[in-house]
Amino acid sequence: MKHQAAIALLIAILSNFSNCDYCPVSAPTVSVVSKCPTTKTEWDEAASRKKCSHMSAKCGNKSPVYHCLLNQWRNETVEVCASNWYISGFCAIYNTEEMKVIDDFSRDCTNLTGGPCPTRYISTDAYMYQGCYGKRNTSTSLPSTDKQVHVSTDCTSPAALIAIIIVLSLLSLILSLLLVLTCQEKISKSVMYSQCMRLRKQTPRKEKGNKEKRPKSPH
Ligand SMILES: *[C@@H]1O[C@H](CO)[C@@H](O)[C@H](O)[C@H]1NC(C)=O
Ligand SMILES: *[C@@H]1O[C@H](CO)[C@@H](O)[C@H](O)[C@H]1NC(C)=O
Ligand SMILES: *[C@@H]1O[C@H](CO)[C@@H](O)[C@H](O)[C@H]1NC(C)=O
Repeated sequence: MKHQAAIALLIAILSNFSNCDYCPVSAPTVSVVSKCPTTKTEWDEAASRKKCSHMSAKCGNKSPVYHCLLNQWRNETVEVCASNWYISGFCAIYNTEEMKVIDDFSRDCTNLTGGPCPTRYISTDAYMYQGCYGKRNTSTSLPSTDKQVHVSTDCTSPAALIAIIIVLSLLSLILSLLLVLTCQEKISKSVMYSQCMRLRKQTPRKEKGNKEKRPKSPH
């Protein structure tokens, strides 16, 4: 019972994980460039140089395509072959840790002067919104809170996946231990004993209920 619930949970997390645009094959294609294309022509030229279409590896079911974006710290522009992503009115960035193209939720680009973006655009059109390529002044140190880029909530990052698994394992271990201890302590008292047995029967059901709710919450 318990194991089945755990396996179901794991499958749910893993399938969620593969549906998102986490793209490990993009990581080795990252190269730092001094500047990104500013026009469609330049973008196409850069794309044919990068040869993303020659890659046989895929990001889930999508083919990696050419991108030139700021990284998550906004201190470097990188060229990368990654799956495209619909951006919802924010600047697009490539996160080298999450290994995918994401919205930089700290920067709305719908009212950028000299090239506002629409509320929905495909990440390969990023060159049209040059206001998004402004690097941070890298010589001044930034407050630590400013470095954070919001992680998109519609998919599970590898770190989050591992954290969830560890937390769940610990929880179930602690719960089992508590149950055993409680039962041993009260075994002499017959009234308590019967209650304990009832508890024992109830607990796996409760635990399963909790676990099944978890995979749905990221959506
Ligand atoms: C960009 O920022 C990251 C994180 O602070 C740092 O590790 C990296 O060296 C920086 N790169 C440049 C070119 O400043
Ligand atoms: C963009 O629009 C928001 C909301 O209308 C406003 O608060 C913000 O100051 C604007 N930014 C610029 C750069 O115009
Ligand atoms: C960054 O800011 C410092 C101090 O404000 C300034 O001296 C320096 O020229 C700036 N660097 C760039 C690249 O803008």
